[in-house]
Amino acid sequence: MKKGRVDALLGIVFGDEGKGKVVDVFTPRYDVVARFAGGPNAGHTIIFEGKKFVLRSIPSGIFAEDKINIIGNGCVIAPDLFMAEAKELENAGYDLKSRLHISKRAHLILPTHRVLDRAYEAAKGKNKVGTTGKGIGPTYSEKASRTGLRVGDILENFMEKYNALKARHEQILRDLNFTEYDITEEEKAWLEGIEYMSTFPLTDTEVEINKYLREGKSILAEGAQGTMLDIDHGTYPFVSSSNTTSGGVCTGLGIGPNVIKEVYGIFKAYSTRVGAGPFPVELFDETGNTLRRIGNEYGAVTGRDRRCGWVDLVALKYAIMINGVTQLIMMKSDVLDTFDTIKACVAYKKNGEILEDMPFETEGCEAVYKEIPGWKCDLTKMTSEEEFPQAFKDYIKFLEDELETPITILSVGPDRAQTIERIKA
Ligand code: GDP
Ligand code: IMO
Ligand code: MG
Repeated sequence: MKKGRVDALLGIVFGDEGKGKVVDVFTPRYDVVARFAGGPNAGHTIIFEGKKFVLRSIPSGIFAEDKINIIGNGCVIAPDLFMAEAKELENAGYDLKSRLHISKRAHLILPTHRVLDRAYEAAKGKNKVGTTGKGIGPTYSEKASRTGLRVGDILENFMEKYNALKARHEQILRDLNFTEYDITEEEKAWLEGIEYMSTFPLTDTEVEINKYLREGKSILAEGAQGTMLDIDHGTYPFVSSSNTTSGGVCTGLGIGPNVIKEVYGIFKAYSTRVGAGPFPVELFDETGNTLRRIGNEYGAVTGRDRRCGWVDLVALKYAIMINGVTQLIMMKSDVLDTFDTIKACVAYKKNGEILEDMPFETEGCEAVYKEIPGWKCDLTKMTSEEEFPQAFKDYIKFLEDELETPITILSVGPDRAQTIERIKA
């Protein structure tokens, strides 16, 4: 009998919704925080007490000193990047070793996976995905091809297995005629990272998580990326390579669906996308630039400009359906503080036809907008819902009516403290 529970917090658009911030805010309510998908393609920003951290592989629950954090089997991990990230936290005074557990079943990103990522992107010509270059696609492909290396492989005959896989990658790269690379330095840091990683508890996290559930503990599953970047449900082929949606919580942690209770869907009061692929709400005008500037929309991993546009209700409805979202969290409302009018995309138009449901292909879709009056005041200092201006309350109500899901948390600034709960979650 499982007495515990898992709640999931999932980005439901194109990533960068503010997952890191909310996971950090939620952590005190849970016993365990676990990442179930993705790897260092993620960049989760946490700001508190004048400090800022950007986490890539380590769960955002790491700042609460008494909580267990888990990198689950559905994740991919780059030992060199993991080491750099973990050392930064250790240098800042956080003890990780006893409470950051890594699944033996998580797959390792090799330096040559990163080269392959670049090589495959180069071969795509103008159809590039615009990946983060972290080797995510090649590593998950390798997992599916049943030729990958897993964290548990570190524990036995590792160098033999590593060299065999590296040689295979080098052969593929030669076949692709992609030979202009040098991983000497990277490999050194990577192997150091392997040593460093072995000082952490490398465990059967699936067994561990289910034991916690039997003991009545609560687990927060921290999503990475967003629904529209999910390998099955996103804007394929312009997606990442894992299941970022609620199904991924089960496969990526080794739990049954019946232990999942709340599914929090997190989105911004407007939309952004990094990398290539269709984005019907994208604004190429001054409004788009203003959203980028005020929202500080530059990639946390690659520093790239994020593409900006108005909120997309077609995508949100689809994501709520795919994930079984029970509560919504709206971030960065403060970014819209100065706009006279705000728009929301309520449908797509393609070849003269109005589409209210997510089509197979969003390329060529045009956004159909509804205009909403702006609130024209500073939300960033507000601490409760009662202080909200009527126009902002109306925007929230409009979204809730359209999405048929309550928005229970609103974020009005990047700091941990700038978070307003409407109904006790
Ligand atoms: P994640 O990948 O979903 O964790 O999100 P990112 O960290 O990549 O991007 C979210 C960005 O928005 C970060 O720079 C946060 O510090 C910032 N942020 C989060 N919530 C808010 C908010 O309510 N208002 C503003 N202005 N910034 C926010
Ligand atoms: P977080 O967790 C935003 C995008 C990349 C690219 C595509 C594939 O911070 O929300 P990949 O390197 O995964 O093969 O790239 O997915 N992408 C993200 N965009 N936020 C992320 O993570 C992302 N992780 C990957 O820009 O378009
Ligand atoms: Mg991010």
